[in-house]
Amino acid sequence: MCGIVGYVGQKQVGSEVVIEGLRALEYRGYDSAGIAFLRSDKTLCLEKAVGRVQNLEGQLEQIDDTKATAAIGHTRWATHGAPTVGNAHPHYNADRSIAVTHNGIIENYLELKQELEAAGYEFVSETDTEVIPHLIEFHTNRSKTFISGLEKAISRLRGAYALAIVTTKTPDTIYAARLSSPLVLGIAKSAAYIASDPMAITSHTKDVVYLNDYELAAVHKDGSYDIRDYKRAQTVNRKAERLEHNHASGELGNYEHFMLKEMHEIPDTIRAATQGRIRPDSNTVKLGGLESVADQLRFIDRIVIVACGTSYYAGLVGEYLIEEIAGIPVEVQLASEFKYRNEPFSRGTALLAISQSGETADTIAALKKVENYGVLRLGVVNAVGSTIARMTDSGVYCHAGPEQAVASTKAFVAQVSVLTLIALHLSGGNSPLYKPILHELEHLPAKAESILAQAKDIEKLAHKYKDARDFLFIGRNYGYPCALEGALKLKEISYIHAEAYAAGEMKHGPLAMIDENFPTLAIATDSPLLEKTISNIQEIKARKGLVLAIATEGNKDIKRLVSDAFYIPGSLEQTQPILIALVEMLFAYYVAIANGHNVDRPRNLAKSVTVE
Ligand code: F6R
Repeated sequence: MCGIVGYVGQKQVGSEVVIEGLRALEYRGYDSAGIAFLRSDKTLCLEKAVGRVQNLEGQLEQIDDTKATAAIGHTRWATHGAPTVGNAHPHYNADRSIAVTHNGIIENYLELKQELEAAGYEFVSETDTEVIPHLIEFHTNRSKTFISGLEKAISRLRGAYALAIVTTKTPDTIYAARLSSPLVLGIAKSAAYIASDPMAITSHTKDVVYLNDYELAAVHKDGSYDIRDYKRAQTVNRKAERLEHNHASGELGNYEHFMLKEMHEIPDTIRAATQGRIRPDSNTVKLGGLESVADQLRFIDRIVIVACGTSYYAGLVGEYLIEEIAGIPVEVQLASEFKYRNEPFSRGTALLAISQSGETADTIAALKKVENYGVLRLGVVNAVGSTIARMTDSGVYCHAGPEQAVASTKAFVAQVSVLTLIALHLSGGNSPLYKPILHELEHLPAKAESILAQAKDIEKLAHKYKDARDFLFIGRNYGYPCALEGALKLKEISYIHAEAYAAGEMKHGPLAMIDENFPTLAIATDSPLLEKTISNIQEIKARKGLVLAIATEGNKDIKRLVSDAFYIPGSLEQTQPILIALVEMLFAYYVAIANGHNVDRPRNLAKSVTVE
């Protein structure tokens, strides 16, 4: 989704720093880009382009003087108004002395716009953001200092925002403010940075200051900064912290796409999520992130998992795991639904948020909803230092590294791996599954490698099914959330209509859709319920439906029944989801490639969904 980068410093490298930062954020999905920079003559230069950051760079090359000691830039993912140059950020006031980039949505923009129009301000875009530079001008013209007027203007905004602001009035300082949208300052010796994701600035500095809601920061060219909490009207003293983890944007290497690269990283992802946390010598699981809340965890009698999309499906796998292994009732809710529900919530309930980015607006809102309930808030998060990671009382990082393809692959695997560890941890070692699962987790990376080695076979299957207009995914028990995730992966990158059902539900409606043009991917791996799934496959076959099965190596019978089968190595039912998901991801990838789609940046989607 939208991305923000800002620079102020002694060196005249603002334009380059911002463009480089915008490039690092490209993977998040966007439709236009723009930059505003202060020239040495203290005038503000604005350039915007539809499409790639590369287009913007091309425009900058045509300009004589792009040397700048202050600059802000933006990649936009359209919400209010089409992706046009006029709607692209930065937005500016009439005399172009103030430029603003904004992530989020200003909910009261119509009210503010009417008010500003009545005061004589004119608008040139369809965006909600454009009210901000005008509002800043209005209030700064009536205030003693720029910053005090800025504070008044920002206090009037409702909704969600991360803002970067540059002005000719204070050429040595740029500004940042946030409410419900991530923003971080990067601090260096003679420069300071603003970014919506640290990945945009870590090549310049690893010393960062995360802003909290209702904070306005002034960052100066000598690398100093002042932060004010404008809700409480007080100064905030916050030291920079050092990013220990590598946020570097990762290169494509020899892979054709990030999605392919990230699927090939899955064996290492399982290792990174589990290593050091499993002690095979003593048969124990150690989750440092949960140690500080060990006492509270003892009194938990229910867990509500909140998440969106793929993370939600990982949560569904977690539900089966935690209930079966630890015996604690779990409910998984879509964060977007949870935040508006009025449900009873006892203190014995823990809320567990799952998020790759740690910045998903709905998941953040779900955590905020229970802020005053006095309940334990846990996180399973990939992005270190992200909003969700910082909001939760405690949690376990996924350690999957940056995931750049829009469709989540290795992060799902890391989330399921971590949820497996959490289930084992919560069981206190009292489950008969404890040791077998611990043991199996060590063998999973090699099994994932063997699936990757057979990617060509999956590609062949993808070619056979690439022209399907519809697809059904079915599974039972642990196979059911895998079916849901498989259908999501196929539809999001190949645009083929795909639906998932619990196999036992077929007779209750979906069977009516089946004919020779409506293929089914059936998860028919080893499980106590396999025979029942086989019966469901028979029912589909009886209606002339084509069936592609994911089965366990050694099951020769299934080959005779279905049109096609792909075999995964034998594994426990509880650890199979990781292997099944890998096959589904590869299948979706090859179908999308065969149909000529951009797998890393599917249409209409963004990587980090920071608006409701
Ligand atoms: C699908 C996908 C999305 C995300 C969802 C939640 O492949 O990536 O469905 O899973 O937007 O994002 P996070 O996990 O960042 O909260």
